[in-house]
Amino acid sequence: MKIKGQHYHTIWIKGDEPATVQIIDQRKLPFFFEVIDLKTPEDAYLAIKDMAVRGAPLTGITAAWGMYLALAGFRGRDLQGYMKKTASYLKSARPTAVNPGFTIDTVLNFIICEKSASDMIEKTFDKVKKLEEDEINYSNKIGDFGLTLIENIYRKKRERVNILTHCNAGWLACIDWGTATAPVYKAQLRGIPVHVWVDETRPRNQGARLTAYELGEEGVPHTVIADNTGGHLMQHGLVDLVLVGSDRTTVSGHTANKIGTYLKALAAYDNKIPFYVALPSSSIDWSVEDGLNEIPIEERGSEEVAEIEGWSGKDIKKVRLVPDNCKTANYGFDVTPSRLITGLITERGICKAEKSSILNLFPEKQELCTK
Ligand code: MRU
Repeated sequence: MKIKGQHYHTIWIKGDEPATVQIIDQRKLPFFFEVIDLKTPEDAYLAIKDMAVRGAPLTGITAAWGMYLALAGFRGRDLQGYMKKTASYLKSARPTAVNPGFTIDTVLNFIICEKSASDMIEKTFDKVKKLEEDEINYSNKIGDFGLTLIENIYRKKRERVNILTHCNAGWLACIDWGTATAPVYKAQLRGIPVHVWVDETRPRNQGARLTAYELGEEGVPHTVIADNTGGHLMQHGLVDLVLVGSDRTTVSGHTANKIGTYLKALAAYDNKIPFYVALPSSSIDWSVEDGLNEIPIEERGSEEVAEIEGWSGKDIKKVRLVPDNCKTANYGFDVTPSRLITGLITERGICKAEKSSILNLFPEKQELCTK
């Protein structure tokens, strides 16, 4: 998608340096646009952990490039042992999204099976590039399938379609298009009038800072709202559709996404508003059924809740919000039970948030279901 009219992906290889990966530093957006170099697996780990990159698909691809950087820089004897250790290290950066686990294991298994060392670096490069291209295709397809939902609403309503979203499940969380935002961009391209209610998404404000930024750059009308506003808007008929992303969806359809998603699902359910989760298959955990008890929920530093970061007029500043020495808790994600989800928008189509319906779209994944 575009920044200042120029097309960008969120991650790419630096010009003629195949062992340097570049990312947009999302900690600085929307105030500064800065690109940083990743040259080692440690750089990739820190970019994920400190949220220079974030969002389930993008952390997955960054971790895969981290595996590639580890291989490219390897000078020791026990390659397999080193790559296995690097895999566990990269997986530990953030625990909730399943995408890094999927991409890291894909690259690790490829390296382990590919015994000849000679052209392994190039082959692994191609493998990661393919994972990246797959993610772009998934988002594109999610956009096409999600568009049909917006078209149906518009056909009946004949007025602007109001969509509420939480956090940033946009192209900044992916490689291109986004998941929850992809149908919105496609609708805009089709000439359907859309408007997005953007939850600010405390504590890190990914909605206010990132979703508002990317929608603005694409010219999509939007309004940032305080996190607690959605229920009120729904009660007053101001939301036609809720579209959110996923960090990990179980094979039964339970979905972990940014903290506060569950409350939006409850409000949507009470007001009979369709609530859809847009996700690529790389965000489905085929080995887990029970979302509430089996998905690890990341807890982050208390300063993210105790402080708020913004633009002072000169630079990015943090200020304290709470009394000195105040105790805070910072759960990064919550789980929305499948019964509150109208449907899942995937790269293969829209299905119910239930095992048989999901496996109907992805029959080859049945063998990965361990329960
Ligand atoms: O903590 P973050 O910013 O990584 O959380 C991101 C989200 O919760 C997104 O909604 C999710 O990763 C889906 S991204 C397409």
